Amino acid sequence: MKMNRRESIAVIAAASAVVAASPLDGLVGYASPASAPRVKVGTKIELDRTGRLSFAYPTAAQPAEAVQLADGRIVAYSRICTHMGCPVDYRPKEQSFVCPCHQSRFSARAKGRVLDGPAPRRLPEIALEVDARGDIYAVGISAPPFGAAETVRAVEAIYREVAP
Ligand code: FES
Repeated sequence: MKMNRRESIAVIAAASAVVAASPLDGLVGYASPASAPRVKVGTKIELDRTGRLSFAYPTAAQPAEAVQLADGRIVAYSRICTHMGCPVDYRPKEQSFVCPCHQSRFSARAKGRVLDGPAPRRLPEIALEVDARGDIYAVGISAPPFGAAETVRAVEAIYREVAP
């Protein structure tokens, strides 16, 4: 039987709900627009082995990372810094993402909240779902990743600062 996307999500949510007390609890039910892309992130087995999974979302040009926190939760964020667009790195011991350009830090435990540095807003959080086989999918994002419009504004601000 062929299912449409909405039916597939309902089946996955129902199957996931059966896995009570799983570390993936809490990922199901995250609100996401129906138009959001559905992208395979990896598998639960891979995540158990490495503690993190790199992928791209919502487009193939926008890096993102899923990580397993110390409390077992699995979360995912855009890796594009909200200050000026540098790629952030995950620090497992701190459970935070750090930007190498101007040292902004973002909490992986608290929905990408800014902990330090010049970043003006949190890292966009990516909604995940897991199917009955343990395949993990990105299915939505809390805000658009840093993009072209913000780059233009940042460059304009720099030019204003250096203009005579
Ligand atoms: S680009 Fe990340 S802190 Fe500036």
